[in-house]
Amino acid sequence: MQQQESDQIWQDIGFTRNPYDYTPLKINKEDRSIFVGRSKEQKQFKLQVAGPQGGIAIVEGAIGVGKTSFVNTMQYDKTLVAAAPGGKQQRSPKYLPSYETIELRENTELTDFMLSVLSNCIFSLEKTHGRSASEEDRDLKAGKELVANTVRSGLGFSASILGSGIGATREIATVAPLSAVLPTVIHTMDRWFDKASEKFGYEAFLVPINNLDILSDQAVVAFLNAARDTLLTRHRVWWILIARQGFFSYLETSARRVSELVTGTPILLNPLSLKEVHQAIDVRVQRFSQQQRESKKKQHHGILSHPVPVEAVDLLYEASAGEIRYIFKRLSDLVYVFRLSFPSEMQIPLNVAKESLRSLARVRLEELNLSERDKDLLKTMAKERQFRIKDYLTFNLDKAQRLQKVVGKFLRLGLLSRSEKSRREVLYSTTGDVNLVFSSS
Ligand SMILES: Nc1ncnc2c1ncn2[C@@H]1O[C@H](COP(=O)(O)OP(=O)(O)O)[C@@H](O)[C@H]1O
Ligand SMILES: [Mg+2]
Repeated sequence: MQQQESDQIWQDIGFTRNPYDYTPLKINKEDRSIFVGRSKEQKQFKLQVAGPQGGIAIVEGAIGVGKTSFVNTMQYDKTLVAAAPGGKQQRSPKYLPSYETIELRENTELTDFMLSVLSNCIFSLEKTHGRSASEEDRDLKAGKELVANTVRSGLGFSASILGSGIGATREIATVAPLSAVLPTVIHTMDRWFDKASEKFGYEAFLVPINNLDILSDQAVVAFLNAARDTLLTRHRVWWILIARQGFFSYLETSARRVSELVTGTPILLNPLSLKEVHQAIDVRVQRFSQQQRESKKKQHHGILSHPVPVEAVDLLYEASAGEIRYIFKRLSDLVYVFRLSFPSEMQIPLNVAKESLRSLARVRLEELNLSERDKDLLKTMAKERQFRIKDYLTFNLDKAQRLQKVVGKFLRLGLLSRSEKSRREVLYSTTGDVNLVFSSS
């Protein structure tokens, strides 16, 4: 659905924006104000990611649990001038966040990646201090020119940055001797960081790398190993690796020299509690309701109506084991689908909501064109709730490898999620749509 079109729907039912917005929270005041929970993890993050020396912090969690939102919220807090513990307001150095997301691709060239990071930091600096921020200083200007020149010469435009799989750009990339410019990039980058920090009072720069959870562990480790002595040890840069649960322990066994750079232990994000998910929705319904906006001064005490009955949230929470992105996505979908048929109705009756959620799930599974055998396996998996590869006999399979293969396929299709009890025990469970289709109740 087009963005404007969908915005219109929310306005039609009395909201300034979608209270079930399932995109990550951004680095701004409004989004900060709708973040709920995770107070222990917030403290851990703020203690670990502090100081001009820079380093690596790891934020781990399952898909859709709220990792990007958490990191953005923490970035927002770190941009503010902190109050001293004694209660006295004291000016302490700020941190520059990354307003754009930085993603790693398979086969990313180190030099390309560094330039992309530098470009991101320049963008954030200019967003904060105006376009002229880079103009006023020789070293800041040099940083900007390095990025501009590299991009212009086609060097920085390799396949890894502009989307892999485009044959033409990949060829350009292999022509340029990338390693030749690495020392220049490092040198220019260091001076840029030093000068930006000196001139604008930044203690350090925050650089989250957002999508490690969708790359193969091997690709990530290969990259981190290559980056170990150049990128990852830059003074004043805090790398925040956003990864799947269990990534740090994998790093410890497969890339010790990288894991040694990590400050503290990984910050593990578990699913929010059901109560917190309700709270997250309540806050948004209040904040984005037109009615609330109009009667702001009068202190609104009435219960604001939710577009979807709150009991539907319980069903989604149960089915998805608390995957908040899935919950929000399905609540949004539900409103879109319902509006198509009954635009005059503001609220969706509970039984209609429940039936529609099941039918949305069914449609999604149908679209995958699974074989009857795969469907049977999924059904058994849903009934089991959690299983391990060594449980292959439960599924009437004669070898563990057969189950492994199906599990790999289902993981790729988002039908299963993976969690690690310990380093050796990996558990799988079916995801929201599968559970909605196959659960008996
Ligand atoms: N602590 C939270 N408070 C309020 N909303 C949250 C919170 N965590 C996540 N969300 C919401 O859940 C959705 C998914 O979060 P996201 O950060 O994209 O997850 P992940 O990066 O783990 O896949 C987003 O719409 C986000 O706004
Ligand atoms: Mg994310």
